[in-house]
Amino acid sequence: MRKIVIAGLNECLGSAFLGLTDLLALARRAIARTRAPGLSAEDPFYVVAASANGEPIRDPTGASFPVAASFEAIATCDAIIVPSFSPDEDGKPPDMSRFGAAAAWLRRHHSRGAVIAGCGSGVFLLGEAGLLDGRRCTTSWWHHEELKQRYARIDAAWGARLIEDRRVVTAAGPLSWIDVALHLIRTLCGVDAARVAADFTVGEAALVKGAPRSPTAYNATTLNEGADAFLTEAERIIRQSDSSFNAQELARALSTSERTLHRRLKQASGESPKSFIDRIRVETARMLLETSARPVKELASSAGFADEASFRRAFRRVAGMAPSAYRVWARARSQNKGQLFALRKETEIIPKMLTTMFDACVNGVTLADPDLEDLPIIYANRPFTRITGYELDEIIGRNCRFLQADDRDQEGRLRLREAIGNREQVEVTLRNYRKDGTLFHNRLNITPLFDLNGRLLYFLGVQYDISAQVEAELEIGDLKGKLMSLKD
Ligand SMILES: Cc1cc2nc3c(=O)[nH]c(=O)nc-3n(C[C@H](O)[C@H](O)[C@H](O)COP(=O)(O)O)c2cc1C
Repeated sequence: MRKIVIAGLNECLGSAFLGLTDLLALARRAIARTRAPGLSAEDPFYVVAASANGEPIRDPTGASFPVAASFEAIATCDAIIVPSFSPDEDGKPPDMSRFGAAAAWLRRHHSRGAVIAGCGSGVFLLGEAGLLDGRRCTTSWWHHEELKQRYARIDAAWGARLIEDRRVVTAAGPLSWIDVALHLIRTLCGVDAARVAADFTVGEAALVKGAPRSPTAYNATTLNEGADAFLTEAERIIRQSDSSFNAQELARALSTSERTLHRRLKQASGESPKSFIDRIRVETARMLLETSARPVKELASSAGFADEASFRRAFRRVAGMAPSAYRVWARARSQNKGQLFALRKETEIIPKMLTTMFDACVNGVTLADPDLEDLPIIYANRPFTRITGYELDEIIGRNCRFLQADDRDQEGRLRLREAIGNREQVEVTLRNYRKDGTLFHNRLNITPLFDLNGRLLYFLGVQYDISAQVEAELEIGDLKGKLMSLKD
């Protein structure tokens, strides 16, 4: 049976601590009682509330809450949830260095395979534990700047409700413990269990189907005082603006002059107003690429860009890759597809070392992802762009059949199709067409790549341009024909 631990920490919100206990207990009972197909009737999980020393914890009002165990007594578990903290007088989460032992405990359990989840400002404790380093994460929007400032190596998304990145779950809002609990039930016990839990506890199964929900009804702009409040407010205004919004209007909305805006932004984030506006819009686009299936074209205006071209340009500059490549990269990362995608490179998605190796090849090298619809190319090396004449962002995200143009009636294509369907290695020669329409003969070798458990990860494609050889053979055939006719 799965074990979920609620981390009891002094100063956390009493409602979150108790709420989690109630919600999980109710969900557990509802799931155990349901004999729906796909759900076992036994207890799906059990819940333990623990604190550093096993003593009751206190919330900021002085109310005391008992726990069942100390952190040390929890030898193994499947998930730990850190509730939101009450903000200090400046509206900021408490200094996390005082929770060092709890942070080390979270780190230990994560390395043993547990999912670690933080709600609202509870995400800061995950940052203190180093669990957010190099990970995509979120927190309440008014804590966004503070989180980035305290933990410089994180990849924070502004405005995302909930993100899971390699067994680290982060959620926005002090009451996000509801989303987090349901998300964990889905991760640990499956979609059906989560649906039963959502129906029973919040009366809204849509929660687990990812349906869009209205924004939170409360507004906490006044919580954050000081220098960051300026950045936070500027971000908020940009996110609510449309594509015609510019630096001049931003200055006006912030009741300041353009000069002061320029100076304060340079001071706070080192950017000009234009780069700042672009970066915030790219952040929004990243979040939309990660959390929706909407086509890249549509995202440009939703993220606040005037047109697709300016969106693509800004996205490349800020995120270091094309939007479609980013979507593939983010997906591979959230599925933890090995270390291959743990690093991000300027324009591609393969770590630098491999890219250098592949780029040094004379042949084209491509990877296609079988988990994505229609087997799109997610990586292509430089020689492939040279051979075909297409730019990377015209290749990534598309099925490679576009190289056949209208010349689809080829025996090799059918063999290829069959071998890919059977997950077998194959080598065929195809007539392909460069971007300028010229024909080349492509000797294509496809190899399925499996992990140690036999799961198909990618198809590796190696493309040899054998046009010269084919033309030489044709010429030889032609000459032979002429010789034969001379003999006759
Ligand atoms: C990794 C990989 C690379 C591929 N490279 C090419 C290519 O360079 N040229 C080509 O014509 N087809 C290429 N293909 C094959 C097509 O994507 C497609 O599988 C083939 O046309 C058969 O499917 P279809 O009949 O649905 O088009 C590649 C496939 C994979 C998996």
